[in-house]
Amino acid sequence: MDQTSAPIYEALEKLRRDRVVHFDVPGHKGGRGNKELLQFLGEKCLKADVNSMKPLDNLNHPVSVIKDAQNLAAEAFGAKSCFFIVNGTTAAVQAMIMSACKAGEKIIMPRNVHRSAINALIISGAVPVYVNPGINKRLGIALGMSVSDVEEAIRQNPDAKAVFVNNPTYYGICSSLQRIVEIAHRHNMLVLVDEAHGTHFYFGEDMPVSAMKAGADMAAVSMHKTGGSLTQSSILLCGENVNSDYVRQIIGLMQTTSPSYLLLASLDIARKNLSLHGAEIFRRAVELSQYARNEINKLGGYYAFSTEIIDNDTVYDFDLTKLSINTRDIGLTGIEVYDILRDEYGIQVEFGDLGNILAVISTGDRPMEIERLVSALYEIKRLYSREPVGMFDLNYINPDVVYTPRQAFYSNKKTVPIKDSKGEISGEFVMAYPPGIPILAPGERITEEIIEYIIYAKKKGCLLMGTQDIKVENINVVEG
Ligand SMILES: Cc1ncc(COP(=O)(O)O)c(C=O)c1O
Repeated sequence: MDQTSAPIYEALEKLRRDRVVHFDVPGHKGGRGNKELLQFLGEKCLKADVNSMKPLDNLNHPVSVIKDAQNLAAEAFGAKSCFFIVNGTTAAVQAMIMSACKAGEKIIMPRNVHRSAINALIISGAVPVYVNPGINKRLGIALGMSVSDVEEAIRQNPDAKAVFVNNPTYYGICSSLQRIVEIAHRHNMLVLVDEAHGTHFYFGEDMPVSAMKAGADMAAVSMHKTGGSLTQSSILLCGENVNSDYVRQIIGLMQTTSPSYLLLASLDIARKNLSLHGAEIFRRAVELSQYARNEINKLGGYYAFSTEIIDNDTVYDFDLTKLSINTRDIGLTGIEVYDILRDEYGIQVEFGDLGNILAVISTGDRPMEIERLVSALYEIKRLYSREPVGMFDLNYINPDVVYTPRQAFYSNKKTVPIKDSKGEISGEFVMAYPPGIPILAPGERITEEIIEYIIYAKKKGCLLMGTQDIKVENINVVEG
């Protein structure tokens, strides 16, 4: 296939040249009906904001340019088939889980998954078998899954339909995907991979193995995160063992019937760019990230971790583009450093948690921005550091699961103040966003440790969400 072509983009360009008169939606008609928006986004952008029509194909039933673009993406990512997704990787993760599991069927997964995976369990009624991830106490973060823990979960649940893996975690940590695939396949289970943070694994050199390369069955890949497409655009990849026509039907249960062609074209153009230039782009990203890591580690007080945390077990591999920086030794939580960077230095990093910040280095980064980050961190240490006492040391708490997420979410509930909720079973989520990994998911028992964690995270300025109570002071718990 010709990876220099971009069929959706080319069809949109042709439509523009053809000067078609529109009596269809969207009603802004190339921006004429909304002058301020036109001024903000420009004519080119608004003229490309069109709806499905014959020359542009239909995302829910692709037969021409979308089909061609998806096939090109499948080839570029080494998959049997590929679906363009415009509802975020959330929809890709949900479609993946719903394609593999029906209500009541089991799925083996680490508990440090993104909320979209547990949401999928609420929607589908699939039952999680959680594998506790490894923990790095020094960094206070959850790691990957140990192969032996996955093996044990499979042994105890031979009826499970699938194993779900993060590749990598938000912090760049990979489990031994190839081994997990081998074992799961031997037990006739599918392997579903959340690659929200792993687009570059398909194009960079010396990267951790990608899901498709490892022989996994499906992968949800956030092109918009590190692949250079527009926010909210994503792809779902399928391997040989998967009936992709069934997957298309499942996607159709959830995906909009009015997909944005701006998003679709951005996926098409990003795939072309990555196919042609990905190796070079990510070589530079790794170089920048490594440079930043070295400089930051020289400052003292910060720990920008890297491949030295690999233990061939719960850290099987590490994504060098992720610049995760532990801040505890300067006496500040990650979220405090995140806030200072944003408010005092005009630097926006991806997230800050209780012990770390994460800077994502990707297609668009340049050395000058890296220098700004390094010097801001130097100043922050000089101006704000304090004795690291009384700090919470863990971002992950093993859950005590009492009900499935769906049972708990749809149960009769009562509202109690979070501070008084010890011993209750949560009927909803509590999470810091980002990273969006639930501290508490529906069906889990609330412990003293969890309450303390939530109160501490709130005090330190983490953006907590998930409860019906927008202030996250009260929580709905399962009525006894
Ligand atoms: C691990 C992981 N999976 C899935 C998602 C969902 O992606 P999106 O925000 O594109 O819906 C995210 C988003 O941050 C994520 O971090």
